Amino acid sequence: MDSGKGKGFVFPPEVGLPGTIVASNISSDRETGVGSWTDGEKIRAIRDGVGRDGRALFPMMPYEYYRHLCDEELSAIYAYLKAQPSDANAVEKRPELPKKTSG
Ligand code: HEM
Repeated sequence: MDSGKGKGFVFPPEVGLPGTIVASNISSDRETGVGSWTDGEKIRAIRDGVGRDGRALFPMMPYEYYRHLCDEELSAIYAYLKAQPSDANAVEKRPELPKKTSG
């Protein structure tokens, strides 16, 4: 399951999700990744599941677990991510998920 561009994991509705979910590009590319985000914005996304624009990230992103990381663990993850090559790859942003219509 990829985006058809070679990179970017796509989870289709067939796996039981309410829509098509695409994992974000979290490489340090400034245009298509998180390279222009501040440290605080990145940490907020990881620990609190809040995107740069303030929207709630789809909870497949396991921030409910990541919020229990201690500062040292988060720093280690952060250092690892920063050490990875940046990857210019525009993945599809999360499409509008269907609204609950009944119940
Ligand atoms: C240490 C590991 C991880 C880090 C540092 C991380 C970081 C991030 C960040 C910063 C975003 C926001 C990107 C944006 O809005 O452009 C994001 C979104 C996302 N992450 Fe993670 N993530 C991690 C692990 C995971 C895992 C294990 C999954 C699922 C298997 C996951 C699924 C997603 C999805 C689906 C989104 C997009 C959510 C949305 O658009 O609403 N992430 N992640």
